[in-house]
Amino acid sequence: MSRARPFLKWAGGKTSLLPQLLELAPAQINTYYEPFLGGGALFFALQAEGRFQRAVLSDLNRELINAYTQVRDNVDALIRALSVHQRKYRAADDRAEYYYNIRRKRLTCSLGGAANLIFLNKTCFNGLYRVNSQGRFNVPHGRYANPTICDEANLRAASAALQGVELRVADFCAAPSRARQGDFVYFDPPYVPLSTTSNFTSYTASDFGIPEQRRLALTAAGLARFGAKVVLSNSGHPDIKRLYTSKEFVLSTVSAPRMINADAAERGGVEEHVIRAQAELVFTSWNARGGQVAEPRPFLKRHPLLGRRRTATRPPALPARSRSLWRASKR
Ligand SMILES: C[S@@+](CC[C@H](N)C(=O)[O-])C[C@H]1O[C@@H](n2cnc3c(N)ncnc32)[C@H](O)[C@@H]1O
Repeated sequence: MSRARPFLKWAGGKTSLLPQLLELAPAQINTYYEPFLGGGALFFALQAEGRFQRAVLSDLNRELINAYTQVRDNVDALIRALSVHQRKYRAADDRAEYYYNIRRKRLTCSLGGAANLIFLNKTCFNGLYRVNSQGRFNVPHGRYANPTICDEANLRAASAALQGVELRVADFCAAPSRARQGDFVYFDPPYVPLSTTSNFTSYTASDFGIPEQRRLALTAAGLARFGAKVVLSNSGHPDIKRLYTSKEFVLSTVSAPRMINADAAERGGVEEHVIRAQAELVFTSWNARGGQVAEPRPFLKRHPLLGRRRTATRPPALPARSRSLWRASKR
């Protein structure tokens, strides 16, 4: 069977940054978490190298997670449905009309919904996924001469790669809340836009603005403190530099091609950041009841992301279970 690749083209897909990301990922991972899944480029690359034992993949986009679920659990029927789309689309006198008829339907969390999402992804403008404020897919028809809508070999390889993988519709901070030592979390959020024309954060109906970027930085710092290895990527925007200046993070600048941009002149190489949250091992080992043995250090007397004084009595912005672990550490 061929090596699985992402079966969707996704804005911000990480195929071009894979060499750097693979270098930062541990050789042996207990549980791999990818909470901004999109096309899942790093998941498929790590899976091909057999680097993790378990994987938890999540995204806030429920139609996207439904597509992964159907690929994992229902690949034969999905291939049949996509073959029908491929045949009808290629034979249509007016392909744009066929496309807009499918786009008009609501994307449901079903086999048909997954087939429609993959069809739209393969035939829309630039393989973009964008929704309006009501959450309706609104990308115009693309101009591909003969797009492959049903890549049977890759769908089967992706299905095999996804066996045993946990798929969740969840906010980025909920899914990896149990990550600990030996686990690896890769956060690839919607980037802080570098310019108004490169403003692309509409993957879901809600925006991913600076408050979410701050919440993400805090979550990453918190998980690293719980012992997980954490890597993030983001744009080369000055706000990102400012957000990750604290000694809890190691920030490196890489050059990456950007293919999705309304302005053709702005496609091409741009600066991006790859950020590693320092794993200061506060909680090194756990007893059978879940209480940690090591003495915790205060979170940060003054956290630069919050811009005001925070003491060790306040937990970082983490999901409920992690907060309770934090409180337990203070007893
Ligand atoms: C940059 S893309 C991920 C690209 C992906 N790493 C790849 O290789 O294709 C960002 C993803 O974050 C998801 N997203 C946006 N807000 C989110 C949130 N609050 N929690 C979880 N996922 C979110 C979007 O649906 C989108 O799929």
